[in-house]
Amino acid sequence: MNVLGIETSCDETGIAIYDSDAGLLAHVVYSQTAIHAPFGGVVPELASRDHVKCTLPLIMQVLKEADMTLRDLSGIAYTKGPGLVGALLVGAMLGRTLGFALNIPTIGVHHLEAHLLSPFLEDPKPSFPFLAGLFSGGHTLLIKVTGVGAYEVLGETLDDAVGEAFDKTAKLLGLPYPGGAELAALARRGQINRFYFPRPMIKKPGFDFSFSGLKTYASHVIFNHLGDDLAKADIARAFEEAVVETLVVKCKRALKETGYQHLVIAGGVSANLSLRAALMHICEQKGVSLYFPRTEWCTDNGAMIAYVGALRLLAGEREDLSVVVRARWPLEELRLGVCNLRSFPANNA
Ligand code: KG4
Ligand code: ZN
Repeated sequence: MNVLGIETSCDETGIAIYDSDAGLLAHVVYSQTAIHAPFGGVVPELASRDHVKCTLPLIMQVLKEADMTLRDLSGIAYTKGPGLVGALLVGAMLGRTLGFALNIPTIGVHHLEAHLLSPFLEDPKPSFPFLAGLFSGGHTLLIKVTGVGAYEVLGETLDDAVGEAFDKTAKLLGLPYPGGAELAALARRGQINRFYFPRPMIKKPGFDFSFSGLKTYASHVIFNHLGDDLAKADIARAFEEAVVETLVVKCKRALKETGYQHLVIAGGVSANLSLRAALMHICEQKGVSLYFPRTEWCTDNGAMIAYVGALRLLAGEREDLSVVVRARWPLEELRLGVCNLRSFPANNA
């Protein structure tokens, strides 16, 4: 089955074609960063308008790359939520309309499910059950995953998402939007132990997070060192260390609580090299296997949407002709019957 994946939940237009026999055939991600950068954050109306302009040409580009025509598609998957409603509606309307015109099954995919299953685009694939850390610009979740569609949220952020904290701190440091990756690059040049930032909520029992206080703490330190350009890298380093240790402590606690032997991290912040290194270290110590997607699939992309679409369409899921998108959509509402992920091929792209 060849499934076209359409991702338009925020500020990236991601398009891909996933073949359930051959793997990923083609994919492209177009980032709107340049459009939103002057405003220091995503402007929803501009995001929607740009998706309107880009989505169809990108679909044609991906079809060309895969040496296919619209008629060769056997299914369509679009991001149904959570996300910006206007942006979601662009992908949903286009996906649904194409599906109707081509008379092929179409399905709306949960953006977070797509992120947390994105490591299945790689080999080796994780085994169920596993603990998933979803660390992105909009979400910070620790999830018990016992199968596709079987998700139990153990903890989440009570305020800012971890990627949001990276982006806001990066902005305070004068780095361009979105800033997470730029802050991480700056941190690599920073001196260890010049500053020490608090590790929010690590002493509290449970698995929830809070990052807004850390961002405020960073703003005070930055204000106290205005004019000291050399301090910036040291501040970035201390901030990153605090975030990484906070995430690691909660992952370690959740691994202990669940007894799981597999840890998956996904979402934009899972691209962070210090986080990966720290988690690799604790996983080695505990004999736990760690999985994460390649960097380009950590952030928003169409490949993960096409993949989950193929999975659910092959499991027999179908949607009617109505176009419903969801700005908020609890992951735990998802369900799916028995589904053998291992029968899916390795990625070919
Ligand atoms: O998953 P994603 O594309 O968007 C959401 O679904 O929210 O994640 C984007 C987030 C941004 O906050 C970005 O700054 C952050 O991921 N990010 C990083 C890194 N690369 C991207 N944060 C820290 N270190 C990185 N290397
Ligand atoms: Zn995302």
